[in-house]
Amino acid sequence: KAPVITIDGPSGSGKGTIAKLLADKLGFALLDSGALYRLTALAALNAEVDLEDAGRLAEIASNLDIQFAVANNEVSALLEGRDVSRDIRMERVSMAASKVAAVPAVRDALLQRQRDFRAPPGLVADGRDMGTTVFPDAPVKIFLTASAEERARRRFDQLQGRGVSVSLRDLLEDIRARDDRDMNRAASPLAPAEDALVLDSTSIDIDGVLQKVLELVKQ
Ligand code: CDP
Repeated sequence: KAPVITIDGPSGSGKGTIAKLLADKLGFALLDSGALYRLTALAALNAEVDLEDAGRLAEIASNLDIQFAVANNEVSALLEGRDVSRDIRMERVSMAASKVAAVPAVRDALLQRQRDFRAPPGLVADGRDMGTTVFPDAPVKIFLTASAEERARRRFDQLQGRGVSVSLRDLLEDIRARDDRDMNRAASPLAPAEDALVLDSTSIDIDGVLQKVLELVKQ
């Protein structure tokens, strides 16, 4: 079986950045599992499905018509053939994704789709439950954290850089609400796998984290 490196952690911990750098460096494929939940959420919002309706949400997740296209080293996400890469990053979709992700039947519906990304020479899988549920046999597991304040500040800088005006207080509140939902849901709650290396990125920068992960990969 192709090797998998799992990178799990809360929103804004820097997992996405690390996962992408690592995949590039190793020539591995990349699974952004959060994008699958975001796509499910967007499809549900488009279909005006009640976000409490587990049955309909699971149906949407099972029948999701999606593709990931790579161009210029950027991955874009297509829903029913339409590029929705920007749409799925909207705050409204983020919030809906975190609700949709709490539904066990949705998680079941997306499980095989995620496992299908595993292929030679290897995969870097970014998410919340990559090391615990989706790829429990992965040889390298990382759990990346950072304080909620630091994660809110990073998101703030990122959005400001894009010219989006937001308040730091609102972002912190959003992050806390999502952490709370991710950690307290019944199905695959956010938590490090027993055999994961837990790294706190509050005080180490991206390069420092990448170095540590590469050391681990070489072993
Ligand atoms: O970018 P951010 O870390 O905020 O979110 P994301 O990784 O794109 O994931 C979006 C939402 O999907 C999160 O709020 C999680 O609730 C959920 N998710 C999950 O439950 N399991 C995963 N493996 C990945 C994401």
